[in-house]
Amino acid sequence: MSIQFKDETFRGDYTFSNSQWAINRFPFPFHEDSFMYSVNMEQHSGGPEGSVYEKRFDVDEHYLSEMKDRAIVLDEDPLRCQSLPHMNLAGWDLLELIMMSKSEDYPDLFELHRDGTHWRWINRPMGIDDSFVFMDNTTLPYAPMEYITRQAQGDFCVLDQRDDNLWMDAGMVTTQADWSLDFDIGMNFFEWHAPVPRAHEMGIFKRALKFLLAIQQGTPARRLNWTLTVNPLLDTSPENYHKWGIEKASLTPENVGEKQYLRVELQTFFRLPRSNALVFPIRCYLIKFADLVTIPKWGRRLHRVLRDIPDDLATYKGFIANRELLVSYLSQFDDGAETSPGV
Ligand code: HEM
Repeated sequence: MSIQFKDETFRGDYTFSNSQWAINRFPFPFHEDSFMYSVNMEQHSGGPEGSVYEKRFDVDEHYLSEMKDRAIVLDEDPLRCQSLPHMNLAGWDLLELIMMSKSEDYPDLFELHRDGTHWRWINRPMGIDDSFVFMDNTTLPYAPMEYITRQAQGDFCVLDQRDDNLWMDAGMVTTQADWSLDFDIGMNFFEWHAPVPRAHEMGIFKRALKFLLAIQQGTPARRLNWTLTVNPLLDTSPENYHKWGIEKASLTPENVGEKQYLRVELQTFFRLPRSNALVFPIRCYLIKFADLVTIPKWGRRLHRVLRDIPDDLATYKGFIANRELLVSYLSQFDDGAETSPGV
């Protein structure tokens, strides 16, 4: 189907909403009635038609509005996009990966024409038609990573690989779940994961890093992560906590269905060809509880997951203060039926 792009906001009057199509394809992350961290990684080799897993870089009805929101964040805070000098080559690798993938996967929306190093990129939804010389920064309006990630939904971390570790040496991060690129820039895999409870002791990060270091070009991987957000806010950054943190206190039993969102990140991992860097796109999907519970097995399961999740995880994910309210709302949608494993 051709995508009907929406004009909506993720701040202020919060006009964001999901169509029935977007609700049906929402990546519900729980395959059982409880949740604990695990090395939940698999190959990113497509998925059912119409699902968020089908294409390498999913484009949906929120594309144009998300790109507008990114531009607002960057205007206010240019440090959301950073690239250490040695990451320029990885930026070109990423530009190539996204342009190739999008033009192949969505030929009606994107076109890439290549004549040696002379490239022409057409992004129809955004009204962009640019010609440039591949690998020549002076021929683009921004550095290559910034240029292409201003046109791609989700955050992007670009990791340098050296000393058997990954280093957060570049990124475009405007839709993050309460962490900061400016704080993490230059850190390694264990350092930027330091605040996460339990996962270090469980050996998850050691195993995950081993998996990531071995990812080869052409065989990307993926995993889901989740948290909760009050209001459909993309920019839940520590830099702006003073603006959005207080919104958590606005939840009431009457408005919880409309104001409380499940936030799911589809995280993918691609090896880049020339730089050998690893790119980590983090694509954020939001769904309000009132929409989520229209799928009975989701409402039932989310109730059980939030009711039983350990306190330290609920604290880290930032919803411990509202947990009782959320569980009480969701309990209306849990008829006590047995659930079967799988989403
Ligand atoms: C959280 C980055 C790969 C598991 C985080 C955080 C960042 C991050 C910045 C937030 C930490 C904070 O509180 O400040 C990355 C990057 C990755 C990567 C750049 C790619 C190289 C992985 C992988 C796993 C993983 C492969 C596999 C298990 C987690 C978990 C959390 C986390 C469990 C806590 C999330 C939550 O409870 O909401 N990651 N990560 N990460 N990461 Fe990663």
